[in-house]
Amino acid sequence: MLEKIRDRFLQLPAKYRWPALAVLVLLALLILYILDVLLLGTAAAYIIAYAEGLKHFPKSPDLSLATWYWHHPLFVARAWLFDVDKLSNPGVLTLWLYLNSILGIMALASVIAIWAKRLKKDTGDHRDIRKIRFKKIQFDINKYLVNTPEDRYFLGLDDKLRPLTVPAASITEHIHIMGGSGTGKTAFGVTPLCTQAVRKGASLVVIDFKEDRQAIQLLAREARANGKKFYIFTLDPREKTNTYNPLASGTALGKVERIMTALELVFHGEAKFYSYVQQATFIPLLTALDARGVKYTLADIHSILQNPGLVFQLTGQNVDENQIKGLTAALTPYSELGQINSARPDIDLAKIMQRGDVVYFDLKSALAPEACSALGKMIAQDLQYLAAFRTPQSRPVIIAIDEFQNMACQAFRNVISKVRSANYSLILANQAMGDLQAVGDDFVNTIQVNTRTKIIFNADTPADAELFSQYTGTVLHTVTSWSENKTMTSGLIQSGNNQRNTVGKNNTEIEVPLLHPNLFKAMPPGKSVIIRRGQLAMLANHSYLIYKAEKDRLEQLPLPEPEIPEQSPEPVNTIAKFVNIAKLKLVQDKNIGVEANENSSVPGNKKQVILVKNGIWDSFGEAVEVNL
Ligand SMILES: Nc1ncnc2c1ncn2[C@@H]1O[C@H](COP(=O)(O)OP(=O)(O)OP(=O)(O)O)[C@@H](O)[C@H]1O
Ligand SMILES: [Mg+2]
Repeated sequence: MLEKIRDRFLQLPAKYRWPALAVLVLLALLILYILDVLLLGTAAAYIIAYAEGLKHFPKSPDLSLATWYWHHPLFVARAWLFDVDKLSNPGVLTLWLYLNSILGIMALASVIAIWAKRLKKDTGDHRDIRKIRFKKIQFDINKYLVNTPEDRYFLGLDDKLRPLTVPAASITEHIHIMGGSGTGKTAFGVTPLCTQAVRKGASLVVIDFKEDRQAIQLLAREARANGKKFYIFTLDPREKTNTYNPLASGTALGKVERIMTALELVFHGEAKFYSYVQQATFIPLLTALDARGVKYTLADIHSILQNPGLVFQLTGQNVDENQIKGLTAALTPYSELGQINSARPDIDLAKIMQRGDVVYFDLKSALAPEACSALGKMIAQDLQYLAAFRTPQSRPVIIAIDEFQNMACQAFRNVISKVRSANYSLILANQAMGDLQAVGDDFVNTIQVNTRTKIIFNADTPADAELFSQYTGTVLHTVTSWSENKTMTSGLIQSGNNQRNTVGKNNTEIEVPLLHPNLFKAMPPGKSVIIRRGQLAMLANHSYLIYKAEKDRLEQLPLPEPEIPEQSPEPVNTIAKFVNIAKLKLVQDKNIGVEANENSSVPGNKKQVILVKNGIWDSFGEAVEVNL
């Protein structure tokens, strides 16, 4: 009810709000006054009538005057305001004033008593998990999102229904959302923030290792309603997808690092040698391709690396096939994924960020955990590379990552800690600190230090509850203790009482956490603790963007249709032509013997080339375009 009145009030034009409020308050005061005159005024008249009646006891008192007051409250109210001098019975007014004063004092005393009791309860009860109580707050988040100022992001409401917001400028200091599975990280935290980002014109990159179909549908709808393109990428072979090429941007060195880190080919210790060997082939190869302005994919690199002769033709370097076996083997599964092997990919992160569009990487990790995690790391490095071309004035980019520990790599750390100047804001969600600890202590530290706002939906483990309780700081409590000491002095004193009693009272100040660890364990869905550096931690309330029936309907829908990107009229310089030339050169090399198999099984009845170099047979079926 109150909420409705407030919403109506906020809908009024600003210049009418205060006069309207004043009229409302005056009206309320008038009604209260008339009610008071009716109830207490009549009571005063009755008291006076009975008091008068006592004088003529045992005659019964005359109550006709008192009854008259009951039936004419408006008349009395008016007379007590404007005709005090003409009152026939001023004693009633005086007694009414006394009654009001007594009631006023009593009301004040009870408010103070309740407040004191609550204060006392607050300081003690929140430590006992059985006594923790949370206020139930229900509200329509959509109304608050509409009313949130353009330069702020809405997070939730506090227990007094006050909006909790953060300045848009400060979310470049990143947000960490944590809570067990099903506590509402996505529905209450990530999705509302992403929705606001789209409405505020920021670009949005979502990397979701869990696949939240409600979020996908809601953000697609939001993007299209705001005139933005919505790109969807999925590894699920049953769904339609936009394409993304992790080798589309960056320097040769950067791309090599991107792939080797993502595929975990960067070794330490003695095995470092193998990393160097692989890099020694990989870097010149990509440098050669980049120098010719060729667009290539992981599948292209994979097929070239399988042919040391071809690598030689392209880079002028002799390659020992055995030494790069690890690299080719690691690339094999990726070379077969059509959605990451397009030389003209739909998803161009630089363009998306510049235009303020939305891209959703649906990397459901249950599908192919290794591939999803590797792809996540490649995206992190792509974002890191693109950060170099951005300035604090560039269009804001919100990067939301669910289960972000899957992306853990040095580039991700760089993205989170060094690229504030790139106007990137990260919204990171995960279930427990243990997930992050599994990556490493320095990763935990990076996240803790670099996320200014923390939204904790629930702490599943005692360690997390302790940790976040410590984040909220401590308050001082005075604890009073009494002690009684009885000393028997039998034999020392000859006569009288031989027992001595000493009673002591001791006041000690103890520190207790502002929000006790138990509170983090008992939090129900829809409640969170928001911890912002430099501010007191707060209990927050959240609400779903849509009703459950609508959520269930959205989750049944297929993924949104992939975006059809604008095609550049310029033809793409793909690798096929370039590799064919290299293969021809290889074939014409006088040191290499050639046999052509006219009856090849290759489709299209093309020729298969079998090459002999230094007595080693090297077969590659891809040389189908070579016209001998
Ligand atoms: N619009 C909605 N209406 C009603 N219930 C919802 C709505 N959206 C989500 N829920 C429910 O709220 C709970 C929290 O969902 P949510 O997916 O946000 O949790 P989560 O913390 O992100 O979990 P996970 O770690 O598994 O991704 C779930 O039980 C979900 O079914
Ligand atoms: Mg989720």
